[in-house]
Amino acid sequence: MEREELIAMAMDAMARAYAPYSGFHVGAALLCADGSVYTGCNIENASYGATNCAERTAFFTAVAQGHRDFTAIAICGGPGGKIRDFCPPCGICRQVMAEFCDGTFQIHLAGPNGTCETYTLSQLLPGKFTL
Ligand code: THU
Repeated sequence: MEREELIAMAMDAMARAYAPYSGFHVGAALLCADGSVYTGCNIENASYGATNCAERTAFFTAVAQGHRDFTAIAICGGPGGKIRDFCPPCGICRQVMAEFCDGTFQIHLAGPNGTCETYTLSQLLPGKFTL
């Protein structure tokens, strides 16, 4: 799958964000090794700490459906769903990625005006926590 296609799926997912508190909408599309894709959006809560990020929504949905082998994720976000800048994953989401993915996992960040930056997980999370 092309990264543009994965980004388009992240954009679709962003439209489903539930973000009445921050107004910041995020979408993610997670590509599995078998070619299937699971999407996620951020889901906020009046008890702010109960909020789930878009990336973790995508990962947890995929894992709950039996997938544990992942290739790439596309992420986009912005106020009201308008992409003004790149939206790198938060630290907790990076650690969740590291639970299932090795350092070569690709992270595509959609930026303004159709731009895109790609990083590996090892670039964004050196020294992951392990037991
Ligand atoms: N958010 C994500 O969905 N992913 C991230 O990696 C960072 C932040 C969401 C959580 C919250 O709903 C909003 O963005 C503002 O922090």
